[in-house]
Amino acid sequence: MTPHDQLEPIEKASVDELRALQLERLRWSLSHAYENVPHYRRKFDDHGVRPDDLKTLADLARFPFTTKQDLRENYPFGMFAVPMERIVRIHASSGTTGKPTVVGYTQRDIDTWSHCMARSIRAAGGRSTDKIHVAYGYGLFTGGLGAHYGGETLGAAVIPVGGGMTERQVQLIVDFKPEIIMVTPSYMLAIADEFERQGLDPAASSLRIGIFGAEPWTESMREQIEKRMGLDAIDIYGLSEVMGPGVAQECIETKDGLTIWEDHFYPEIIDPATGATLPDGEPGELVFTSLSKEALPIVRYRTRDLTRLLPGTARTMRRMGRITGRSDDMLIIRGVNVFPTQIEELLVKEPKLAPHYLIEVKREGPLDDMTIFVEMRQDLGGRMPDAERAEIERHVQHIVKSYVGVTAQVQVRDPGKIERSQGKARRVIDLRPKD
Ligand code: DLL
Repeated sequence: MTPHDQLEPIEKASVDELRALQLERLRWSLSHAYENVPHYRRKFDDHGVRPDDLKTLADLARFPFTTKQDLRENYPFGMFAVPMERIVRIHASSGTTGKPTVVGYTQRDIDTWSHCMARSIRAAGGRSTDKIHVAYGYGLFTGGLGAHYGGETLGAAVIPVGGGMTERQVQLIVDFKPEIIMVTPSYMLAIADEFERQGLDPAASSLRIGIFGAEPWTESMREQIEKRMGLDAIDIYGLSEVMGPGVAQECIETKDGLTIWEDHFYPEIIDPATGATLPDGEPGELVFTSLSKEALPIVRYRTRDLTRLLPGTARTMRRMGRITGRSDDMLIIRGVNVFPTQIEELLVKEPKLAPHYLIEVKREGPLDDMTIFVEMRQDLGGRMPDAERAEIERHVQHIVKSYVGVTAQVQVRDPGKIERSQGKARRVIDLRPKD
């Protein structure tokens, strides 16, 4: 047993105690940003607000938002609030276009992050006696090192495998017998396939808990992974601009959405179109303000992630629902809003299909054309008659039309024909001309 095996006092604090701590920390964080980052000073001044204007938590709504664009404009280190001599780590997130966003950490930030991650792993059911196989990528991506430091802080034995070399992933799981795996859900599926390819039953492995995040996944995907891998599949959320993984974590005892570690991150939900703050329970865009970060205080960061805030259950801190998508990965197909997760939810329920899919959108002439590529199950590989394949394609087309409201072409491919991710999966290829 280490101290990290038990709930911390703040995890059991009353809501009032928590709000008081948040207010105190928020005041510090806003002043720290204003005094040390020219960008924040300018923005607050333009908005006519000063850190002192925050008298209650609700006053946060008067402060300006921060976006990925702000970080890009201050590339690489312009948003740092401490001199470089105090920075001990730099990460960056690649994004799909343009310059990466760069984030920095002081030693105290690394300690806070490690602490939040240790708390997350414990909430997922991990203990200091466990071995943790980390298959998130190591490097500028925060997944690998975040999980690594958290596991060590918990006192567990961390196996720093990283992403890729799928055959070796299986060998290490078989030989080292870890109880926990931390990996993207899409790469977990690729590892499960590799178990089967080697004639091994993945459900018979030593793994008891999977801590999955870094990309959207669905409840149906959870069921499928749990059954196939014989483990509890738990959601973890985070983003580099706010810290990395471990901003919010699902608790194993309830598996009902992710508890936000509200002593360090203050959440809001806004209407993505108007920016208005919405009450708890309403769906919208998640916004975070850091409460304790030194190197990169972040004020009202627009995550683009869509979810809602829910009351606490396993903890007093609030939860967020599973991320249903990002406002920027919403596809508008002939006027209908489509999220890849809606398609995933339908595909994963089909008994003859594997949960590997890709959505391609094109525009030939005036109209958008969407094609869903999906694989048949590995054990049906090559043996599915053409007529049956065509029948499944028709059926999927029908359910997508009924539940999502768009007409899609569907192509069922042989096993292994859709590219596997070794980290975050790419679900959409949008080939439409950008206008
Ligand atoms: O993905 C940090 C992370 C690593 C989280 C490992 C969990 C596990 P970024 O590369 O900055 O950081 O990407 C952040 O990934 O805004 C979401 O869109 C998405 N994301 C992260 N976790 C989840 C999740 C890491 N559990 C972006 N469900 C976020 C859905 C997620 N989307």
